[in-house]
Amino acid sequence: MPELKRLLGRRPSRVQSVVLHDLVPVDNGSMARWARDAKGRTWVAKLEIGANEVLAEALAFALGEKLGVRQPQGAVFKHGGSPGWLSAAIPGAAHWDRDLRDHIANIDEVGHMLALDAIVFNEDRHQQNMLLTPDDDGRFIVWAIDAGNAELGCPADIRRRGVEPPGVGNHARGLPWALLHEPALGAAAVAASLPDEVLRQIVVEGCAQTSEPQVEALADALTLRCRHAPAIVARYMNDLGARP
Ligand SMILES: Nc1ncnc2c1ncn2[C@@H]1O[C@H](COP(=O)(O)OP(=O)(O)OP(=O)(O)O)[C@@H](O)[C@H]1O
Ligand SMILES: [Mg+2]
Repeated sequence: MPELKRLLGRRPSRVQSVVLHDLVPVDNGSMARWARDAKGRTWVAKLEIGANEVLAEALAFALGEKLGVRQPQGAVFKHGGSPGWLSAAIPGAAHWDRDLRDHIANIDEVGHMLALDAIVFNEDRHQQNMLLTPDDDGRFIVWAIDAGNAELGCPADIRRRGVEPPGVGNHARGLPWALLHEPALGAAAVAASLPDEVLRQIVVEGCAQTSEPQVEALADALTLRCRHAPAIVARYMNDLGARP
């Protein structure tokens, strides 16, 4: 068990309760709010989004940690008896801006994010789901947020997808696709080699936090997609790069 714990790495935390503050000012109708927990940490809270969205967030976060994705710490919390999702607030973050494509400090981590999206079937990587913060060299770090719409959160949906890659129609434009290919395929190879028990444990924990009963079906679906990740990610990257 200690070995499995080490293999699992950073996973979504549990936060007992938060005090909710203002809505996060975004122009896409999001109901995300600033929130503070008992330890004084600031989060972006999503409540009343449904257990499957929280499960999608929790699973994508745990798998993203294994694949080397740059992402804020995530946590599950309970709001009025239902699960909600917390993302550790990144102060002063901006949304993805294609004019900054030649100034990305963490190209590899962005490639890893694309591999994660392909595996968890996340078609929601639009401009406002990638955050930017400046580094010390005048470049920008790209952070992945919001895997709430990933189909991995819905056992029946992800099983139906088999080894299909997600569609790319809604994806943010202007990323340096040619540079991202290799790190994306690298993360796919990592996913393909993750031990069965690690994938299963990720699913067991996510399902426990969200009261999802279809644990085995979901573990099987995730394992299938990870084993086929090199092909899924290759197709996804080709589709992204081929867009006009
Ligand atoms: N950890 C964070 N730090 C700073 N800002 C954040 C963080 N998480 C989210 N945000 C801001 O809040 C917005 C909404 O959050 P998020 O994308 O998770 O919610 P959503 O309602 O699911 O969005 P969508 O409309 O894409 O479905 C983001 O676009 C971003 O501007
Ligand atoms: Mg979003």
